[in-house]
Amino acid sequence: MKFDSSGVAAVKARADIVDIVRRYVDLRSVGGRLVGVCPFHQETKGSFNVHPERGYFHCFGCQASGDVIDFYCRINGLEFREGLERLAAEVGVSLAPGRIDPRAGEKKRLRQACLEMHALADEFFRRTLRSPQGQAARDYLDKRGIAPEVAGKFGLGYSPPQWQGLENHLKTRGFSPTQAAQAGLLSRRDDGRTWDRFRDRLTFPIRDVAGTVVAFGGRIMGEGDPKYLNSADSPIYRKGDHLYALCDARQAMAKSRRAMLTEGYVDVITLHQFGYAEAVGVLGTALTPEQVKRLLGFCSSVDLIFDGDGAGRKAALRSAEMLLATGAGCRVTLLPEGEDVDSLLQTRGKKAFEACLAEAEDGLRYCFKAVSAMARKEQVAWAEGFLGKVGDANLRAGFAPRVAAALGLSELELRSALADTAGRRRAAVPAAREKDRPAFTLGQREQWILSFAARCPEYAPALDAAGAADFLSGSSARGLWAKLKVLGADDPRLVLEPEELAFVATARESGDQPEEQRREHFEEISGFLHSVRRETAKKELTEAMRRARAVGNVEEERRLFAELNALLGRGDE
Ligand code: UTP
Ligand code: MN
Repeated sequence: MKFDSSGVAAVKARADIVDIVRRYVDLRSVGGRLVGVCPFHQETKGSFNVHPERGYFHCFGCQASGDVIDFYCRINGLEFREGLERLAAEVGVSLAPGRIDPRAGEKKRLRQACLEMHALADEFFRRTLRSPQGQAARDYLDKRGIAPEVAGKFGLGYSPPQWQGLENHLKTRGFSPTQAAQAGLLSRRDDGRTWDRFRDRLTFPIRDVAGTVVAFGGRIMGEGDPKYLNSADSPIYRKGDHLYALCDARQAMAKSRRAMLTEGYVDVITLHQFGYAEAVGVLGTALTPEQVKRLLGFCSSVDLIFDGDGAGRKAALRSAEMLLATGAGCRVTLLPEGEDVDSLLQTRGKKAFEACLAEAEDGLRYCFKAVSAMARKEQVAWAEGFLGKVGDANLRAGFAPRVAAALGLSELELRSALADTAGRRRAAVPAAREKDRPAFTLGQREQWILSFAARCPEYAPALDAAGAADFLSGSSARGLWAKLKVLGADDPRLVLEPEELAFVATARESGDQPEEQRREHFEEISGFLHSVRRETAKKELTEAMRRARAVGNVEEERRLFAELNALLGRGDE
């Protein structure tokens, strides 16, 4: 189904960009415009601007920009279509082309009721933990070494032992047991009788990225099976969609562009307690694609921390593969057998844990190691499966030679694996025919930058950080840069097209330059990229001013002018 543009327009009209952005970013009003610290890159300055009337956001630091739907998708790690659907559901807009969803209003009310019940339950569980009834639960937390402030920060609570404790509480607030069961807070027996799902359990609120409670986890105090129980799926919660503590970790993650990912509640909480503010957890499922998208909205590199047993190693392999396939960085730390993050930190301290982290293995290398223990046939299948998962063709081409070398696959074997995946892709999307492929052409500046990148592969990450991709916008330049970026010291022959190979060979002909010269050359390029970014921002602002003037919006024009001045005045931007 394709959405008609009126659906998109309706969502934009109903979803106020300021309201949505405010869920994630602290916005201040500065001279009539709204400014905050950008959630999409590391900064403290506040380059993130929201324009309420124009309905869009723009960051002068990282150039992120778009309308309310773009913001929603990006911050939640969603594809456009899914983000649009969810946002539409939230604001009660039907996207079915040409007709109005008669149930949109009802669905919205149902979601709203679920959110309210969760807020009430959250408060109820927290209060019970502090009450005399919560004594045993408080003792348990104490025994587990969870500090009261940390328990408070994560909203830990206790669901009392009565069968209908929460149920009755919700009734007094006008919510029926049927509604509470729909929200996933009550369980139902075969005969229809309901009871508190989390009764006599320690409760861990699961919050969405904005901090709204959408579900709970419950742990029995002591041993038994099942040890943990999560909310059932509901209109506001789907298993595998959320990451535990993402709302607590996202700011630290956005700053360092890194995350720590582990399994479960107590481990994540303990990590935070010991100062690892970028820790998040998967909850009783393997890492899901939704979680990956969500995570990579805030960071670009993930430290996986898993148990050293068979299950942990397997989970680490799968998770690493998923992350690498999207182009994210990834490292793997396996804990000594019999330990988990919590036990390690609590009993052996931060130093012992740091020692484990220091031995983290590069994600791809970890995969190779894990796979090399498999039978030959499985290895080939793994290579094929992994490369098939890599959606981006350039990225895939970058991985291919490393996979080949690591698993000792011949070029031919790998090419056929690649051809297979390419073939499958082609079946779905007809690829451009050979003669339609545009000629390999580079602008002068593009040649300048790319020949440096070809000669000095060690500078690829620095060039990347300096925003080379923004400037290398021609299709030939973009393609070559994507490959050079991941090529490193690998043999370029397997990856590059003949024209690209010729270009790289020519660039490398001049031989090795002394380090000092390389550095100088890099400084020159990064200075240039910097000035280009400024110019682009300037042009955009000038253009917006022109438009404002054309429609006689003096106030807007003045505001943009102030913005322009700020940009030009700030020498460090
Ligand atoms: P663990 O059994 O390792 O739990 O499961 P834990 O977090 O270390 O808990 P403690 O230290 O014994 O209190 C890891 C995670 O897997 C999920 C939970 O999210 C748990 O935190 N899990 C585990 C379940 O969902 N159900 C279970 O029965 C067990
Ligand atoms: Mn544990």
